[in-house]
Amino acid sequence: MAKYKIAYLPGDGVGIEVLEAAKIVLDKLKFDAEYIHGDIGWEFWCKEGDAFPERTVELLKNVDAALFGAITSKPVKTAQAELVPELQGKNLVYRSPIVRMRQMFDLYICQRPTKAYKGNALNFKENIDIVVFRENTEGMYSGVEFNPVPEELSAVLAKLSKPFAPFKDLKGDEYAISCKINTKKGSERIIRAAFEFAKKFNRKKVTVVHKSNVVRATDGLFLETAKEVAKDFPEIKMDDANIDAMTMWLLKNPYNYDVLVAPNLFGDIISDLCAQMVGGLGFGCSGNIGEKLAVFEPTHGSAPKYFGQYKVNPIATILSAKMMLDWLGEPEMAAKIEKATAEVIAEGKVKTYDMGGSNTTLEMAKAIAEKL
Ligand code: IPM
Ligand code: MG
Repeated sequence: MAKYKIAYLPGDGVGIEVLEAAKIVLDKLKFDAEYIHGDIGWEFWCKEGDAFPERTVELLKNVDAALFGAITSKPVKTAQAELVPELQGKNLVYRSPIVRMRQMFDLYICQRPTKAYKGNALNFKENIDIVVFRENTEGMYSGVEFNPVPEELSAVLAKLSKPFAPFKDLKGDEYAISCKINTKKGSERIIRAAFEFAKKFNRKKVTVVHKSNVVRATDGLFLETAKEVAKDFPEIKMDDANIDAMTMWLLKNPYNYDVLVAPNLFGDIISDLCAQMVGGLGFGCSGNIGEKLAVFEPTHGSAPKYFGQYKVNPIATILSAKMMLDWLGEPEMAAKIEKATAEVIAEGKVKTYDMGGSNTTLEMAKAIAEKL
């Protein structure tokens, strides 16, 4: 029996190609795993009305970790139009499977390391090394949304939000509501994870990203919680910045930042910005981590326009596989992947299109595998 059971969830588009690439690297390492394919993605939405079918949910309950590619998402109306005729008119609502997975399995940490590997011509500056901790289950992604807004909710809100209630004379279908819900527990555990990480890896500082000067309730709670948690880590410096200022400061002086921790949507935004500073989404790896399960995926999407061409950069996925090995307690294998990847980047001989080259996804994977 293999040592690990890994759910293999390619999803849509280039997700399929980059996962194939990561597996080349894992196989070369002789990573002892049984990979179990899981159905997920657009095809299953169209055919079954569920992009994340129950059988895949069950699979995830019985594995050590999962590797996930990418998924195509479309707006609600377009999604409904693509359902098979038997499912039309059933009032099915599309919700992003990865967002559901994060919530269903309580994968509350979204860890996104962004490191400028030496010799990567796409680096914004050399030596950038920032790790983003994004809250992954609540905030703007809570999924508590109304469009149209039910009358009873309108009435309660108009009563409670005096004096500013611009919607109070509107009908329910004339406005929409997306609730940003942050809990104390949800805030505390992601902030603690960021500090624990900083402590374990000798990082100097945790920066809390928020917008508490305006979004006072939720982001205020996040920042206050951070100040409390920080007391348990006197050896680590804490500072904070509003999300808008943060985007500016990150570009102005990336060396000032070490570990960032942010509520869901701000973490989503800031992690793309960080990825771009170290070469773009082709280098953006990530782990969705809970207590029992963790799912590793590149930050990029399914890029339908490139599907079938095997041209996208698999490094984001290969580095996500590296994160998986770390999480499983295989740091030696993980370190080998990182070293091999860094060597291939530094040599600059094998480059995918985003790096200005013409090598394929699988050529990049093989070049990394050869260095192992
Ligand atoms: C990410 C992506 C997802 C998100 C999308 C695909 C739902 O942008 O992982 O950053 O918004 O979380
Ligand atoms: Mg994103």
